[in-house]
Amino acid sequence: MKTRLLPMLICPLCLPDEIQLVEKITCIDGNDIINGELRCPRCGRIYPIEDGIADLDPNSSHIRTKTEKKYETPPVVSSYIWSHFADIMGEESASDAYLNWAGLINPHSGIALDTGCAVGRFTFEMSRFCDFVIGIDNSHAFIKTARELMIKRNMNVLLKQEGFIHREAWLTLPETWDNEKTEFILGDAQMLPFKNSTVSSFYSLNLVDKLSRPISHLKEMNRITRKKDAQFLLSDPFSWSTEVSAIDDWLGGKNDGPFAGRGIDNIMHFLSDHLFCNSSPWAIESQGHVWWKIRTHENHFEQIRSCYIKAVR
Ligand SMILES: C[S@@+](CC[C@H](N)C(=O)[O-])C[C@H]1O[C@@H](n2cnc3c(N)ncnc32)[C@H](O)[C@@H]1O
Repeated sequence: MKTRLLPMLICPLCLPDEIQLVEKITCIDGNDIINGELRCPRCGRIYPIEDGIADLDPNSSHIRTKTEKKYETPPVVSSYIWSHFADIMGEESASDAYLNWAGLINPHSGIALDTGCAVGRFTFEMSRFCDFVIGIDNSHAFIKTARELMIKRNMNVLLKQEGFIHREAWLTLPETWDNEKTEFILGDAQMLPFKNSTVSSFYSLNLVDKLSRPISHLKEMNRITRKKDAQFLLSDPFSWSTEVSAIDDWLGGKNDGPFAGRGIDNIMHFLSDHLFCNSSPWAIESQGHVWWKIRTHENHFEQIRSCYIKAVR
């Protein structure tokens, strides 16, 4: 983990209090902490840094849900590498989803945060647009892959063709993606390890319906994003599922009760609500959808309509 993150990090378990973590570094390579730990001086919780990966997820040691476990498997990592980088690898049928989302962000100063970053495409893409960008995800396999790409800048990817047959594809990151301005860490998008008003732009792509407490994610977004000169991009297919969260916690997809109606409308309502936003409401700049694609094997692709809201304040 790059040392420049140190002043931003707080203990997610002690929220809403901001307790700055204290570092103990046992191995460092230039500005990259390879091994060490971050300790909360209040609750005593230790967040390890191992092989360069900082684990700021308070639930790391908890038993993973079926959905969370899925993201740790090699076939799903390979699927996401294809989904994120197929256009860069010159793959037939690649989608332009990440370029479309990137086109919605205005270049800015300060820090950007890509929550649920997976293997890092949008995080890398945003390194062209800001001073520094952090990708955060609770999948160890995804963050390990993203960091490996950040450091080595290329990778031999195994793509499933059919059954046990695979083919190799070579991925090289474009030179315009700046690894000095990029970092990936493990964390929970519902209890973020950052001080209030730390980030200038916040991204939540295809994440909100994968969270057990989606409302906590939106509250965290509002807490750590600057009160002015800030951008927020949320995009989601709103595939609510009881495997991920209780129906009462869904932010939409219900005919009655709390958060009845469509998720996108309810989220826009929160963003304009003075109380929800602590007197700094958001203005919706644009709304639409992006076709996003995931590949399972040579003859199986999933095409997903991801509906976005771009908001500013
Ligand atoms: C459907 S994928 C979307 C990935 C990426 N944002 C994209 O659009 O390509 C959902 C991602 O959210 C991550 N995730 C799920 N629950 C999370 C949580 N509580 N905190 C952080 N990341 C989480 C998963 O590991 C996975 O990378």
